[in-house]
Amino acid sequence: MKKATVLAFGLILVAGFAGAQGITGSAHDFSGETWSGGTICLPCHTTHHGITDFVAPLWNHEVTVATFVMYSSPTLDGAIDAQPADVSKACLSCHDGTVALENFGGFTGGTTFVTGDALIGTDLSNDHPISIVYSPGTGAGQDSELMPTNSTYADGTIADYLFTSKVECATCHDVHNGGAVGTNPSLLVEDPAGSVICLRCHAK
Ligand code: HEC
Ligand code: HEC
Ligand code: HEC
Ligand code: HEC
Repeated sequence: MKKATVLAFGLILVAGFAGAQGITGSAHDFSGETWSGGTICLPCHTTHHGITDFVAPLWNHEVTVATFVMYSSPTLDGAIDAQPADVSKACLSCHDGTVALENFGGFTGGTTFVTGDALIGTDLSNDHPISIVYSPGTGAGQDSELMPTNSTYADGTIADYLFTSKVECATCHDVHNGGAVGTNPSLLVEDPAGSVICLRCHAK
């Protein structure tokens, strides 16, 4: 609900993202980088001539074409996509390290890549599963130790943070450092202290 509402107005409400808990000054504020042209939103979104194959709203960044190794395990219950869904591909279009940061707005000649801990790479087998259906229950393809989707989560319910019922990168991270993020590290939507974020979904 919340996401859809903000989608309609967000590109106008730029001011809503400003301030200590907004994108300004966060790890995703590239306005001080020589390659960004001084804007905050443009490396990721545009108001016109966005990428028409939907990746994320009005997407402006070159999209990764890498083939990813997805998470698998003998105890995994929910259905996992063969490749990351678009909304996670948006993140991986910088964080897999194959596409340069400054490759946006049609420019493809960039030479600056994500490095260090922020480099997730194309092998996602050692990362928390993404593009996986959040399916609590005891039936086939369901995990009995997942909380119900209407349980409390950040500033809403778990369901509010799923994308077509799936866990994606943006289920745990707020790319804009907004809303409920507050002072959480790593742009997390919930506090990792005491593993609060994990216990929201996992009944452990
Ligand atoms: C580093 C990349 C990045 C930057 C910079 C960025 N966004 Fe986003 N934005 C995304 C991604 C990825 C999504 C889709 C995932 C999601 O909805 O959380 C998104 C979703 C959105 C949405 C729709 C969902 C929602 O949260 O309301 C709006 C509106 C939006 N962005 C506006 C902006 C504006 C305005 C700016 C600049 C102030 C901005 N974004 C900067 C990556 C970015
Ligand atoms: C335009 C490229 C780009 C896109 C798209 C992008 N990021 Fe980032 N992200 C970066 C860069 C650059 C950094 C800073 C890395 C560093 O400091 O070494 C970063 C940092 C982060 C951090 C670390 C924050 C911190 O405070 O340490 C997280 C978490 C993160 N990104 C998650 C995401 C997620 C989730 C998405 C998609 C919803 C996304 N990013 C989309 C470029 C991007
Ligand atoms: C289930 C929740 C969850 C999902 C899904 C998730 N992350 Fe994270 N991520 C975390 C947590 C918790 C941390 C902080 C602890 C750590 O660094 O491992 C983190 C840390 C990070 C960092 C910061 C590393 C650093 O130390 O600077 C980046 C970048 C990042 N995630 C990107 C992504 C991207 C891209 C995706 C999707 C491919 C993703 N995350 C999916 C929970 C998640
Ligand atoms: C938004 C909900 C959500 C959050 C938050 C979350 N997870 Fe998960 N996690 C899932 C789902 C859904 C699965 C897939 C479960 C299944 O279908 O078997 C999963 C799978 C896993 C698995 C693999 C299980 C297996 O059988 O292979 C581990 C381990 C795990 N999560 C740990 C964590 C940890 C640690 C955190 C906190 C950093 C966390 N999760 C946060 C939803 C979440």
